[in-house]
Amino acid sequence: MTDLRVHIGKTTLKNPILTASGTFGYGPEFEPYLNLNAIGGFCTKGISLEPRPGNPGIRIVETASGMLNSIGLENCGSRVFLDETMPKIARYDTAIIVNFYAYTEEDFVKLAAVLSENDRIDALEMNLSCPNVKQGGSAFGADPKLIESLTAAVRKVTAKTLIVKLSPNVADITLTARAAEAGGADAVSLINTLVGTAIDRRTRRFVLGNKVGGLSGPAIKPVALRMVWQTAKAVKIPVIGMGGIASLGDVLDFLIVGARAVQVGSANFVDPGIAQTLAEGLDRYLAERQETIDQLIGSVQE
Ligand SMILES: Cc1cc2nc3c(=O)[nH]c(=O)nc-3n(C[C@H](O)[C@H](O)[C@H](O)COP(=O)(O)O)c2cc1C
Repeated sequence: MTDLRVHIGKTTLKNPILTASGTFGYGPEFEPYLNLNAIGGFCTKGISLEPRPGNPGIRIVETASGMLNSIGLENCGSRVFLDETMPKIARYDTAIIVNFYAYTEEDFVKLAAVLSENDRIDALEMNLSCPNVKQGGSAFGADPKLIESLTAAVRKVTAKTLIVKLSPNVADITLTARAAEAGGADAVSLINTLVGTAIDRRTRRFVLGNKVGGLSGPAIKPVALRMVWQTAKAVKIPVIGMGGIASLGDVLDFLIVGARAVQVGSANFVDPGIAQTLAEGLDRYLAERQETIDQLIGSVQE
């Protein structure tokens, strides 16, 4: 076995393969399909202070080489998550990254403080980029000043590894990445979904109940790869890359342009065991080439 360990803030991942928030439930749902201890960690569905029912109507639609979702950040809320879900997932020997979001700075801070009381949570991933929720979620992710002050406010109440998840729905991702770094983030993760829509031309209505949704899957990979490459050059903190990863080749591409770890999202819906396959494939790739993970990361030739 190759040493695949990578460091993200205070957290050491046994390998750089993580699963992306919203595509992997709370973790145990995937136990029939893979050994969770074989992956570097998993990100939970986005948690809010209070439970949320999500958006009404149709919430998922397939697109060319991807999917649009407008789940609306449905989740069980922080209390149920900490009291009922955490005890079930605490036993896994892998990093638990809790994705969280709120609509006000005050609630972001309150939630980060509550989640930080749980010793088993390894890292917090702050979602600033909810493109499918009406109440202003996307505004956080688009405004560098707001990102810096919000990150700084959350930083004050948590000693855990703090990852800021960036929205791709901006003109220059390096500005928002630098703002997160200036605010004290340990890492940035990107990209979240790109805003899109779909029309049912027979009825001439929007397919999604929410009209717009987030585009993910292989269709967004070139955009994600470009943004990860630009961001890795712009900040000193680790970058966690994602967007359309569906094969070992995709994982390698993200690591080569400078991602320290990657997250697998929509591909879990196609093959729920893919994260383990990718971790094992990366192990084999490096062993065959007698290359270290550090030699691979950021090895792009410019
Ligand atoms: C059904 C679905 C639900 C998602 N829910 C969340 C979420 O709760 N929080 C979040 O930060 N990102 C969420 N995402 C975004 C993914 O974590 C990821 O950033 C995005 O899908 C790009 O990766 P992919 O192309 O591999 O899917 C969701 C994505 C999908 C497809």
